[in-house]
Amino acid sequence: MLKVGLVGWRGMVGSVLMQRMREEGDFALIDPVFFTTSNVGGAGPDVGRGAAPLKDAKSVAELKAMDVIITCQGGDYTTELHPQLRAAGWHGFWIDAASTLRMEDDAVIVLDPVNLDQIKASIARGGRDFIGGNCTNSILLMGLGGLFKAGLVDWVSSMTYQAASGAGAQNMRELLNQMGKVNASVAHLLDDPSSAILEIDQRVAETMRSDAFPTEHFGAPLAGSLIPWIDKQLDNGQSKEEWKGLAEVNKILGTSSPIPVDGLCVRIGAMRCHSLALTLKLNRDLPLAEIENLIKGSNQWVRFVPNDRATTVRELTPTAVTGKLDIAVGRVRKLNMGPDYVSAFVCGDQLLWGAAEPLRRTLRILLD
Ligand code: HSE
Repeated sequence: MLKVGLVGWRGMVGSVLMQRMREEGDFALIDPVFFTTSNVGGAGPDVGRGAAPLKDAKSVAELKAMDVIITCQGGDYTTELHPQLRAAGWHGFWIDAASTLRMEDDAVIVLDPVNLDQIKASIARGGRDFIGGNCTNSILLMGLGGLFKAGLVDWVSSMTYQAASGAGAQNMRELLNQMGKVNASVAHLLDDPSSAILEIDQRVAETMRSDAFPTEHFGAPLAGSLIPWIDKQLDNGQSKEEWKGLAEVNKILGTSSPIPVDGLCVRIGAMRCHSLALTLKLNRDLPLAEIENLIKGSNQWVRFVPNDRATTVRELTPTAVTGKLDIAVGRVRKLNMGPDYVSAFVCGDQLLWGAAEPLRRTLRILLD
């Protein structure tokens, strides 16, 4: 059995990974070894064969004994440990949720329903670094992979609606605290059916603009509002999140001439589902039914939502999709710009396909 070291399994992405590995019986197929950066020697989790003491996640000697390391510990850990391990001659498989190594030439961004061939080819030629993609791009490709693979896409405008979880667990808490503060500021007025809505609105705005409003993690109110910037600012006016669109989508697809992907990334008050409003420029005028069939055939997780109002508001929302592996795709129609311009709306759980799921599936590929 492969010895598989798990690092960062207690954090939010790591916890979702653990849950999914338990659900799918992954632990029965491996010899799991749990590492920690803060509790060396403490009791590890019992995943079916008793709890063993936790090992030191900073010990190159302990890590070197692993055939595979899966880390959800974050980019700083990867930056510190991965070069040390490789310099020490470790040839094991490194499976990582952090972005640090994604664009390295010998690393594959893993999303096997889209690029299984690339993953297998890399393993065959001795590739050892397998990195989960940016959540937004993974969800985009899970939803519309069929159109890309058919070679139909000239370019994509990708306007995103990203959930609080993408910024971290503390941000999810802050969003809920903000929601609570907003409600509390007008609760007595809401209870009174004769109160004036404009007074309620004014108090809400005052609450959200007040220095006492909790914004430590987001840096701005999100509940009742939105934040049209995600991640660092680059010199060209893009955010780092927006930059990842073209870079990662094309790396995952292995395109020889890059398909332009660009748009604005926006944080909204959803908990853990990212959504994307997309404009696709196709390279030919395909009947809508054929476009829909290509999307439906992308993979078994696509849940196609017919473009009608009732089904859309019921099924194409973060509330409907959260906690599920489904990737909901809908609002597919031809746009006024011309017959080869198509819209789509994609919604997926960013902690599942956007983070944990591709990692555990890569492990399963290594076990095959
Ligand atoms: N950068 C993403 C976000 C997280 O902030 O939503 C997933 O890659």
